[in-house]
Amino acid sequence: MSEIRLPPIRLSHLGICVLDLPAMEAFYVNVLGFSVTDRGSTLGFDLVFMSRDPNDHHQIVLSTGRPRDLPINTVNPMFGPVINQISFALESLGQLKTMVQYLRATYPAELLIGNHGTAWSVYFDDPEGNKIEVFVDSDWYVPQPVFEPFDIDRPEAEILADTERMCRAFPGFMLASEWRRQVSPRIAEARERIAP
Ligand SMILES: [Fe+2]
Repeated sequence: MSEIRLPPIRLSHLGICVLDLPAMEAFYVNVLGFSVTDRGSTLGFDLVFMSRDPNDHHQIVLSTGRPRDLPINTVNPMFGPVINQISFALESLGQLKTMVQYLRATYPAELLIGNHGTAWSVYFDDPEGNKIEVFVDSDWYVPQPVFEPFDIDRPEAEILADTERMCRAFPGFMLASEWRRQVSPRIAEARERIAP
């Protein structure tokens, strides 16, 4: 019998159970710029499919059917009880600064802004308490987790210089490009799975 190899799977989309489907749809469309690609009902639930990329029919799918009495996370109130974060990548620190301005102008949520060394992030809740992260990667690697609050309203050059200084002081610092080079074989090896 020939060997059975794990096919190349790709992380694609996320489904979220919701209480208030119109409110959640409005958030993902109006605040995060998703487009509704399909909607309908099946198996007794209402679904809204949405995407920001024509290559993915849906990147987020909202479905009714969230239990009304779902407990909040009392151990770590920062996050939901199961989903820790739903994270969106930007391409530059300038875009992250603009995103913060956009959020302040459009969405009344408390923003938690932090520097991971490897990335700068803004965290806030969607209307049903799922934690959203919008982030941009830096050019540096430091072993995670790291979280340092920082003032995103400072000039970009100052944030960059401060972050590089912070990163270079960490044990285990390296350039992000070097980290990617080092982690690549490990990831490639983990993907190679053959059924026993
Ligand atoms: Fe994250």
